[in-house]
Amino acid sequence: MTPSYRIVLLPGDGIGPEVVEEARLTLETVAARFGFDLQFETHLLGGCAIEAYGTSLPESTLAACRRADAVLLGAVGGPRWDNPQAPDRPERGLLALRKGLSLFANLRPVRLFPELLGASTLKEEVLQGVDLLVVRELTGGIYFGPRQEAGEDGHEAYDTMVYTRPEIERVVRVAAQAARERRRKLTSVDKANVLASSRLWRRVTTEVVTREFPDIELEHVLVDAMAMHLIRRPASFDVIVAENLFGDILTDEAAMLAGSMGMLPSASLGEGTLGLYEPIHGSAPDIAGKGIANPLATILSAAMLLRHSLGQEAAAQAIETAVAQALAAGYRTPDLAGVHGPDDRVEVVGTQAMGAVVRQFLSA
Ligand code: NAD
Ligand code: IPM
Ligand code: MN
Repeated sequence: MTPSYRIVLLPGDGIGPEVVEEARLTLETVAARFGFDLQFETHLLGGCAIEAYGTSLPESTLAACRRADAVLLGAVGGPRWDNPQAPDRPERGLLALRKGLSLFANLRPVRLFPELLGASTLKEEVLQGVDLLVVRELTGGIYFGPRQEAGEDGHEAYDTMVYTRPEIERVVRVAAQAARERRRKLTSVDKANVLASSRLWRRVTTEVVTREFPDIELEHVLVDAMAMHLIRRPASFDVIVAENLFGDILTDEAAMLAGSMGMLPSASLGEGTLGLYEPIHGSAPDIAGKGIANPLATILSAAMLLRHSLGQEAAAQAIETAVAQALAAGYRTPDLAGVHGPDDRVEVVGTQAMGAVVRQFLSA
C-alpha cells in the first residue's frame, strides 16, 4: 500500500505564504518520485489568525496540528501587529503552538554550500569546513517563565529565566545523541558566571554527558564568548546546545555563516514523531509581496520534515541534493547574490523561479 501522510501547512504572515508554497510544490514533486502520498491542510497561525479569528493560535489550528504527521510553517509577525498594548501578538501564537505540541528540541543545522562561500560577509578561510548543528531548547527558559508586562505607569516589567532538571536533561540527550551520530563533540552554551539557571544547566549537562554519553567530548562556553567564537572559529564546532534565548540569538548569527537568513532550516521535535518544521527567519516585512524571498530555508525544512517525521530519508536527501545542484548551477535569490553584487556566472531569480529550478533537478 502507498504510504500516506497528513501535513498541516501554516503559511503565516509576510513572506511565509510565498516560501511555503514553494516547499509544498517541492514536497509534491518528491512524493510523486518516491511513491508516497501527502495530504495537505492549510490553517491560520499568527497575524492572519488574529485578523480572521481574533486569536494568534485558534483551537482549530492546534487541533489540526495534533492530528497531523508533521507541520510546515512559514513565518509569523509584522509591523501591523507590533502594537505593544495589543492583547495578542502573532509571536505568542507560535510560542503557544511549540509549547502545546511539547516540541522542546529545536534542531538548526548550519550547512555551507561551497558556492555560497562568497555570499557570506565572513572570509572564506574562516568558513572552510563549517558543518554544525545548534540544538536550541524551545519550550522553557525566559520565553515561558513568570512575567509582568509594564503597567499603565510604564515603570517596571520583567521576564524570568527558569529551568528544571528534566527540561535540561531531555534537550541535552537530544544534542548528545546527535553528536554521537556526527563528530562526537558537544559545546554547551550558558552564562554560568552570572545566572543561577545557567549554573544548573551546566551541572545537569555535565552529569548527563558523563553518565550517558562518555564517548562524547563536552565543552562549556559562556554565551558572550560563544558569539565571538562562532565567527572566529566556526569550523571547530560540531553540536551546540543552548537554552531558548541564547539559541535564538546565536542561530541568527550562524545564518550569516551560511550566507543568508534565507538558508537556515529547522526542526522542532518532542518525544514522538510529530514535528514542526520552519525556516529560522521571520516574515521579512521589508521584502514581503515582492516575490524575491529565498525559499530554500523552507524547502530545506521540508527535507527535515521528510527525515524526522516521515522517515523518508532518501526523499529528504533528494531535496538537499537538488538544492545543492540549483546553487551549483548559479541560481541565486537576491539575498545570495553576494556582498559585492552578483558576478556573471550567477543568475539572480525570484522565489518561484528558485523553487522551479529545485523541482527541475528533483525530477531530472
Ligand atoms: P526577519 O528574519 O524577518 O528578517 C531579517 C532580515 O533578513 C530582513 O532584511 C529580511 O528581508 C531578511 N530575510 C529573512 N528571511 C529571508 C528570506 N527567506 N529571503 C531573503 N531575505 C530574508 O527578522 P525581523 O525583520 O527581525 O522580523 C520580522 C518579523 O518576523 C517580526 O514580527 C518577528 O517577530 C517575526 N519573526 C518570526 C519568526 C517565525 O515566525 N519563526 C522568526 C523570526 C522573526
Ligand atoms: C525564531 C523566532 C521566534 C523565537 C519568535 C518569532 C517568537 O525568532 O523562531 O527564531 O524567538 O523563537
Ligand atoms: Mn529567531
